[in-house]
Amino acid sequence: MSEVLDLLNEESRQRYLDRACKDGYAVLPDLEALKNRVREKERKAIMDGQREEVSAADAEPNHSAANGAISTSVGTGIERNTSDKTRLLADEDSEDSGRTSGSDTDDDNLAVDDDDDYRSTHSKAVVSMRSKRSMAAESQQMSRQMRFAYWFCFAVVFGAGVSCIVLLILASPTCNTNNSDNGEQLAWWQRNIIYQVYPRSLQDSNNDGIGDLRGISSRVDYLRDLGIRTVWLSPMFESPMVDFGYDISNYTNVDPIFGNLTDFDELIRALHDRGMQLLLDFVPNHTSDKHAWFTESSSSGSNPKRDWYIWQDAASDGGPPNNWQSLFGGSAWQYDNRTQQYYFHQFTKEQPDLNYRNPHVRAAMEDVLRFWLRRGVDGFRVDAIAFLLEDAEFRNETCTLNGSVSVACHEWNTMNHSYTFAQPGFHAIVRSFREVLDSSEFFNATHPKFMVGEMYAPELEDVLELYGNASSPECHFPFNFLLIGLQASDWTGRKIGNVVGQWLNATSKDQWPNWVLGNHDNKRVASRLSASLARTANFLLLTLPGTPTTYYGEEIGMIDGNVTWNETVDPSALNTGDISLSRDPERTPMQWDNSSNSGFTSAGVDTWLPVASTYTEVNVAAQLAQPRSMLQLYKRLAQIRSSEPALQHSSYRLIHATDALLAYAREYTSTTDGSGSTNNQYLVVLNFASTASKAVSLTGSGLAGYQSTGHVQLSASLSTNVSLALNLSAFDMPAGEAYLVKLTPS
Ligand code: GLC
Repeated sequence: MSEVLDLLNEESRQRYLDRACKDGYAVLPDLEALKNRVREKERKAIMDGQREEVSAADAEPNHSAANGAISTSVGTGIERNTSDKTRLLADEDSEDSGRTSGSDTDDDNLAVDDDDDYRSTHSKAVVSMRSKRSMAAESQQMSRQMRFAYWFCFAVVFGAGVSCIVLLILASPTCNTNNSDNGEQLAWWQRNIIYQVYPRSLQDSNNDGIGDLRGISSRVDYLRDLGIRTVWLSPMFESPMVDFGYDISNYTNVDPIFGNLTDFDELIRALHDRGMQLLLDFVPNHTSDKHAWFTESSSSGSNPKRDWYIWQDAASDGGPPNNWQSLFGGSAWQYDNRTQQYYFHQFTKEQPDLNYRNPHVRAAMEDVLRFWLRRGVDGFRVDAIAFLLEDAEFRNETCTLNGSVSVACHEWNTMNHSYTFAQPGFHAIVRSFREVLDSSEFFNATHPKFMVGEMYAPELEDVLELYGNASSPECHFPFNFLLIGLQASDWTGRKIGNVVGQWLNATSKDQWPNWVLGNHDNKRVASRLSASLARTANFLLLTLPGTPTTYYGEEIGMIDGNVTWNETVDPSALNTGDISLSRDPERTPMQWDNSSNSGFTSAGVDTWLPVASTYTEVNVAAQLAQPRSMLQLYKRLAQIRSSEPALQHSSYRLIHATDALLAYAREYTSTTDGSGSTNNQYLVVLNFASTASKAVSLTGSGLAGYQSTGHVQLSASLSTNVSLALNLSAFDMPAGEAYLVKLTPS
């Protein structure tokens, strides 16, 4: 009994659920077996208890022996009920026994009146004095009681088992194996837009020209009003800032440039108070060379932490151990004079790679996750996830030019990364990170912790493997970089339609989609495309199925700043000498208003990167005042997205794709009212061309079940009245325009 009831105990329920999450619901039949085992035990216990009850009742009419037979330790309602009922039963037994005794002989009465004495000296004699009739009656009585007790307990056990199954099923959508569009219920990470904050660049609160945590806290209301509910912070941990925070020297503290842990706690409180979530950037592949682990590791060849990083002897010519290249230019091997070996670094030489073949490394990084989860973070973006392992044999990579290793490959981009990228075994590491998030310490059925991975790979299927599967989940989703990777010329209706279909067709219903338009490593969308097409692109982003990610400033259409070579600080440009590789332009300060330094910091302060010259016009204050600004459009899109089930859920149907136009339907049928008649169906039409499309007709293309007149709820230009009737068999689409049209079933 207690085993089944234990399932209702939080810890056991969690354990069971964890197992269900891990091993899949195939474990559910175990519950049936458990129930049977318990039923058997219960039956035995009842029999024993009944025997005790009978003898005790004979002797002690008002004392319940059943309490001892069915032990209770967990205070659940069911248990309390069972216990009370059993006690009742025992009381009935006692009364029955008493009645039987009372209606029988004087000796029986004597036995009741003088019961201590009776118990101690005469029990056998009294039993032998009972008449055959009363013995038979008693035994009949007993078996009736036993049958009743048996069925009663069976019902309770069965009820408890069913409740457990129901509980497990109810909990299963939040069991993190489930990434699907689960009918009515979507998780927070499915519903919300992710807004990426580059902490150096959002808001400076102390006039040092660098953004900080207090600055971010002061802009939380802005983000909430924008319609943002999930904020992802690029790294704000202690760092020498060679790669601006992606080189971490202490994973469990805030860099003084950004503030301190108290500022962090205030930021997370400010977000949570407003119903918002915080994601941190988890950088597991490499540390800073100033991290204490590396200091130890590089102190001698025999240091216990030596193996925490990847050390190799020089090649026979004294050069690097093999031809592996760094993403940021040059060999991926750095010679260490003191210990006379090379260490490996995928990125800058100040970012030595950790050795995940050493289990202590993984354990230490899992502790990093726990540290921040205990501080209340809601999830992580996992940096450079596919770089975690390298070939154990350190084999040379081949050149993409002719597949040979004899041709010198001097650039990361011209090599096949067969031995340094997505190596066998890396998914197991990702899974172990996920297990920390799903572990009982952090499990919360209504608010699961979330994980998204960063992986740019030539093959989409390699990226999609990061979803894991139901029994071994990895990321809730890997970032979808298909849109961010497109050239301006690719932004045609047809191509975008293909790209959208590429992700959606390659994923199953359980693999929640997502879309990324910008980030700190890529040119801003308004620079990649154009200011006007950036509006159309954001319209697309916020009306596609799945979680959208917006990079700070893109809601106002910020373009890349002009950063001269002298002002350039990005190591990927400095190390290669190639300014075109610089990521500084997309990291310039947020443009809040038209005051000097754009409201990012006080006038006269030297900002870490120059404020883009466009700030006088492209800024938040100006756009709040303009009814048709990009910012107003973004807010409207975010607001309508959050309130319309059709835009929240994942259905998508391609209606029309030409060079200029893309049209798709977003349809949602309520699964709760069962009627299937919920009028929550939209059509999105986007014109990516710089010319208008005249007399567009969509009625012949998949809109058969709808009336030929739709109602425009929102247009990219914000020039169209809400609810403007649109004749779907002949309408004009101005250049760059986009419509969100409400459809009415015919
Ligand atoms: C990721 C980050 C990038 C960083 C690199 C090394 O790709 O997005 O900014 O430089 O990892 O950590």
